[in-house]
Amino acid sequence: MSAQLIDGKVVAKAVKEDVRTRVEALKARGIRPGLATVLVGDDPASHVYVRNKQRTCEDLGMHTVGHELAATTSQEDLLTLIQRLNRDPAIHGILVQLPLPKPLRSEPILSAMSPDKDVDGLHPFNMGKLMMGEPRFVPCTPAGVMAMLDYYKLTIEGKTAVVVGRSNLVGKPAALLLMHRHATVTVCHSKTSDLPAVCRRADILVAAMGKARFVRAEMVKDGAVVIDVGINREADGKLVGDVDFEAVAAKASWITPVPGGVGPMTIAMLMRNTMLAASTT
Ligand code: GUN
Repeated sequence: MSAQLIDGKVVAKAVKEDVRTRVEALKARGIRPGLATVLVGDDPASHVYVRNKQRTCEDLGMHTVGHELAATTSQEDLLTLIQRLNRDPAIHGILVQLPLPKPLRSEPILSAMSPDKDVDGLHPFNMGKLMMGEPRFVPCTPAGVMAMLDYYKLTIEGKTAVVVGRSNLVGKPAALLLMHRHATVTVCHSKTSDLPAVCRRADILVAAMGKARFVRAEMVKDGAVVIDVGINREADGKLVGDVDFEAVAAKASWITPVPGGVGPMTIAMLMRNTMLAASTT
């Protein structure tokens, strides 16, 4: 089999055009959706991600304010900023770019955010709602994975799904979303025994472990749908996913590329969540 491409740029464009239309309708009612981004430290990749989020906000007619803080910022000062943004009526969504530099702890910061402005879906309340099957704000990357499967009308119900990676940002929410759509879900991680054998059972394989080209062809069932969440930079500067794309594409039925797969979806779903946060005010 030779896989068909799941094109994240195409799906992200469709999501963003819908957001653009709905932002215009909100503006006609006097509401301009606003996103505050909070970036701590000087990680170059995080700077690129946050700049792209701000640019996309502006492109869709939304308000955006960027807060850039030194890596030496204290936990208290960061909390004070979050509390100020919670009270700011022009801000409907708050995005704290992760990971935070050490020794800052993300959990108290995410918990301090108003759940109503938690457009990343990482506050314990929104995580709990997702676990209960009543999602409100869903983390953007796994929400994007589901939107891609739906755009291409790929069946989820009754399928065997394997998620490799158990992070709060991707693996755990992706597993819950697939489970709620009636897939039979296995979550794997670095301590899983015979990981290749588990992956080979997957009709839908979500690779989110953060290891370049980790998923090889022999770990993939013929005809599987393969979603690559990884973004890794190789020594020569090339961006690659967690999947060995060329070899796996020869076996899969559908596959996401890197770049141009899940990456553009994360921003699109953040825009969607920000528009939705403004819709309920
Ligand atoms: N770092 C990498 N991906 C994400 C994301 O989706 N949200 C936040 N806040 N930080 C990230």
